[in-house]
Amino acid sequence: MRERIYFDQAATSWPKPEAVYQAVDRYQRTVGASAGRGAYAEAQQAERLVEAARRSVARLLKIEDARRIVFTLNGTDSLNLALHGVLSTGGHVITTLAEHNSVLRPLKTLEVAGRVTVSRVGLGPSGLVDPEDIRRAMTGETRLIVMTHASNVTGALQPAAEVGRLARQAGALFLLDAAQTLGEVPMDVEQLGVDLLAAPGHKGLLGPLGTGVLYLRPGVEQQVASLRQGGTGSRSDQDWQPELLPDKFESGNLNVPGIAGLGAGADWLLERGVDLVRQHGLALLGRLWARLGEIGGITVFGPTDLQQRVPLVSLTLAGIDPQELAAVLDSSYRIQGRAGLHCAPLMHRHLGTLQRGGTLRLSLGPMNTLEQVEQVAEALDDIARQLR
Ligand SMILES: Cc1ncc(COP(=O)(O)O)c(C=O)c1O
Repeated sequence: MRERIYFDQAATSWPKPEAVYQAVDRYQRTVGASAGRGAYAEAQQAERLVEAARRSVARLLKIEDARRIVFTLNGTDSLNLALHGVLSTGGHVITTLAEHNSVLRPLKTLEVAGRVTVSRVGLGPSGLVDPEDIRRAMTGETRLIVMTHASNVTGALQPAAEVGRLARQAGALFLLDAAQTLGEVPMDVEQLGVDLLAAPGHKGLLGPLGTGVLYLRPGVEQQVASLRQGGTGSRSDQDWQPELLPDKFESGNLNVPGIAGLGAGADWLLERGVDLVRQHGLALLGRLWARLGEIGGITVFGPTDLQQRVPLVSLTLAGIDPQELAAVLDSSYRIQGRAGLHCAPLMHRHLGTLQRGGTLRLSLGPMNTLEQVEQVAEALDDIARQLR
């Protein structure tokens, strides 16, 4: 059987660094205790694993106080906490057509319930948001701007710092969905003007599934309601939710094996340097871009300036549905991409790809190689020739 070539890194990263597997295994076999709840050695060890992971994620975001990082179940969970938590008191929200359903659906739920009003700003031809459109959408009631840092369909990197500045000027909160950028693009939350940043732990951070993070800028936690209340291992004598971070938002036992793996993934990134990961991603993307341009019948969506992208491409090939193309790539070449709408229906409507069943997405990560990129280009070339 051919070796598996995995180009679905935007869904979840694979393979993980060896240290991630080891950290999960070590926790499961030798620690096996709740974090923050017991005084015996293994319980304290579990607590140390969680706090070390928190510090590593904080370093990736260039923040001093690791307590501002809350662990969650995935990117969706982080976004739900931020959206429902901030909007529990209502208000006007600005978002964009580039968003994932993990933003669109919570907002629609709140909108249908009459709790918020939502403005959805359009995109330019290459899928980029114009900050001026966001400025124009602002009202005196605007409480939150929520935007994806990079589209999971086109890979377009949005002008987050400019939007962050606008939010600050208007006194609105800025929630950045960094699902496709954290671990992939160097990040500085201060520079981006971010109040809240939501990200999965299992994509660019290279941790296991079932992990996510939410960053809250100092003071913002007071504007976010806790969605789940319960045991935190702290202030157990009181029957109301503690206000201190991260406990306010971390009720119940944490996914310690997952977080141990996430910490190892974050450490791998810190050691390698996210700027090197970015360079590698751009090198792979550059090669893929050039090779796709040589194949007749392929349309690639999103910005042509590769610096404005993360390393993923969405494409269509004339004469074949994206679903079928993905199936042929998998069955004949063992190349795994993902076809469909990628949980971003408004983006596909914008691109005109909704009716055709979306696009084929090939997403690359730090473990992919130039050789694998050559292989997918050759496979697509083969398929395109057979279609002619
Ligand atoms: C832009 C974007 N936001 C949010 C998410 C949700 O992340 P998760 O799958 O960890 O819930 C994804 C995942 O594909 C994404 O691409």
